[in-house]
Amino acid sequence: MKLAMASVIVLRLFILANLVTFCLGHHHHHQQQQQQQPRPTAYNYGFDVHRRVKRQLAEPLTTVVRGDAGQQAGDVQVRREIRELEQDRDVWTLYLLGMSMMQFTDQMEPTSWYGITGIHGMPHQTWGGVRPTPGNEETGYCTHSSILFPTWHRPYLALYEQVLTNVMRMIANWWPDDQKQRYLDAVQRFRIPYWDWATYPPSDGSVLPTSVGGSPFVDVDGPNGVQRIANPLFSYTFRPLNTTAFRQAPWNTWTETLRGPTNWGPGAQSNNSMVAMTIDQNQRSLSQRLYILFSNYGNYSRFSNNAWIPFVNNASYDSLESLHDTVHTLAGGGGMGMPNIQGGHMSFIPYSAFDPIFFLHHTMVDRIFAMWQTLYPQSWVAPTAAVLNSYTTSRGQIQDSQTPLTPFFADANGGFWTSDSVRDFTKFGYTYTELTDLASASNAQAGVRRAINRLYGASSPANMFLRELRAQGIKGGRGKGASSRIGQQSSSKHRPAGREVGGLQDDSYREWIVNIRAKKQALDGPYSIYFFFGTPPEDKADWAQAENHVGAMGVFAADGTGMGGMREAMKELEVSGTVPLTTGLIGAVERGRLEGLSQAEVVKFLREELVVVVLGSGGREYGVLDVEGLRLGVRSFSVKLPQSEDELPVWGEEEVGFDLL
Ligand SMILES: *[C@@H]1O[C@H](CO)[C@@H](O)[C@H](O)[C@H]1NC(C)=O
Ligand SMILES: *[C@@H]1O[C@H](CO)[C@@H](O)[C@H](O)[C@H]1NC(C)=O
Ligand SMILES: *[C@@H]1O[C@H](CO)[C@@H](O)[C@H](O)[C@H]1NC(C)=O
Ligand SMILES: *[C@@H]1O[C@H](CO)[C@@H](O)[C@H](O)[C@H]1NC(C)=O
Repeated sequence: MKLAMASVIVLRLFILANLVTFCLGHHHHHQQQQQQQPRPTAYNYGFDVHRRVKRQLAEPLTTVVRGDAGQQAGDVQVRREIRELEQDRDVWTLYLLGMSMMQFTDQMEPTSWYGITGIHGMPHQTWGGVRPTPGNEETGYCTHSSILFPTWHRPYLALYEQVLTNVMRMIANWWPDDQKQRYLDAVQRFRIPYWDWATYPPSDGSVLPTSVGGSPFVDVDGPNGVQRIANPLFSYTFRPLNTTAFRQAPWNTWTETLRGPTNWGPGAQSNNSMVAMTIDQNQRSLSQRLYILFSNYGNYSRFSNNAWIPFVNNASYDSLESLHDTVHTLAGGGGMGMPNIQGGHMSFIPYSAFDPIFFLHHTMVDRIFAMWQTLYPQSWVAPTAAVLNSYTTSRGQIQDSQTPLTPFFADANGGFWTSDSVRDFTKFGYTYTELTDLASASNAQAGVRRAINRLYGASSPANMFLRELRAQGIKGGRGKGASSRIGQQSSSKHRPAGREVGGLQDDSYREWIVNIRAKKQALDGPYSIYFFFGTPPEDKADWAQAENHVGAMGVFAADGTGMGGMREAMKELEVSGTVPLTTGLIGAVERGRLEGLSQAEVVKFLREELVVVVLGSGGREYGVLDVEGLRLGVRSFSVKLPQSEDELPVWGEEEVGFDLL
């Protein structure tokens, strides 16, 4: 067999990194030298659009999420991956123009970028007249560490999709008559794109699409010809930055959303190449976590959110929300890769939604949820007490499948969407490619499993071991001298022939994970827990590329400035997550650092070599004991290999475990 781990670790270059540096430097220069120098901003349509936009968006029903994406009822279209959407040029043009238009719409409008994204956290303002319940004025509507985490974001995305589609349709009508229909057709097939941060990116590309992180400017061929505008996917510029709402640094000085900010002061700029590099380094870990979630998390209560539930099975510390949190901290760019930086907007719950990458990320989260629903149709929202406050719910309140998902109106009479009513998402007029092959329920499930294996199985140990098993079958023997070290181990005198091949036993192998439990606000801001085999490189700038980096879990928290009432409730909140170790262990065998994958060898290796580092805001390093409530446990499970592409691995009982902390 061939386990080409080394080549997997090869850093993918972020191809436009140089361009970004150039553009930013260029722009900076102009700002300093000539204050009046106009920077690319909105598209110039040749007439005053703002009055028309205001009229268009001010219709009373825009606060109702209609459930048909503003199109004809029953018209279901796929939400595409952003790179795929980009290939559909007419749709892409409209998407950029629509996003830009929302961002340049007066921020006091409820359907402006600020109005829609402000629903999530800051500025803690009432939307659609849905008032806060007493004591919850200083929180956002979003529900985190809650049974409603996946379902609340569903009508939120549908609202955004509806508003954006309306704006795009308005713009399509501004093309000359002979082209108008072409663009109206493009609007018809548009649904919001998702960003797949877990699959292998196209060859030589980064996981972070260049359309999102490549340049602050973009050329669009709109109704009034080709123009260079501010790239609405790169950042959102506050118009204006409201220092009454955002009172504390750095939020009251950062006039636009930042990723991997170069410092914590007013002159900070995004460093998307650093963010891209860090995400690339973590892609395999994200992919494995996702693969395990699909395979082993059939219980909605455990799958849905990151709240730590005492006495849960040791095999279910992770969750969709916890994986989502890690992507937030990676996209914000905190900690890793550069010393002395804190994360940007995406790393902080109350400010995250302003960054245009937020909706791309959450559409991916919704897609994962939709795929999961197909695999586990029986499991659903069960009554659970809220552990955090939101704008309309208080800690301790029981949330169930009928809890109103505020502020998302389902009708003009003031009824709200609920988890039950958003369970069938096609009523919002969208689906995902992986779910379109739906001849029957069992075919649908097989189709989803095939897609999961194809997209997220590549770096999963299950598939590596499966390839090994198949290679043996073909060769009719095990562990030929020409195969890799793991293969060689298999023929060593220590193992009975045919019984165990580098951790493989019949049709099962062992997965190793580290379970993490921590107080969400332990450091009063987001932090990340990094795992290395052996000592991490001296310079944090080298961490992202280090081959002994095994994975990281990001804890998406608040910094106290945007928390208000949530802060107290959050203090005690414990969250949990998982970092898979198995692929890293295979890599260690490949590099000759670990002899083999027997339980004894692995336990000895992990006890000696697993290094844990915690980085908080400003890249500050914390000792694990300084993080209140941090618990780390290594666990091992026997996992049955899938026998076909239609199957996922089946996780068995825990076999070995020891606690690090
Ligand atoms: C700024 O924020 C304050 C407090 O949230 C709010 O009352 C005011 O309307 C906001 N102004 C603008 C221009 O957004
Ligand atoms: C951005 O990050 C990269 C990689 O860490 C680093 O080499 C570069 O100097 C950073 N750029 C700025 C402007 O800080
Ligand atoms: C799902 O998990 C929850 C929380 O651990 C538990 O109370 C419930 O019994 C589980 N449901 C099933 C069907 O196993
Ligand atoms: C979890 O692991 C610990 C340590 O191995 C063990 O004592 C405990 O019983 C396990 N809990 C469950 C629910 O399996």
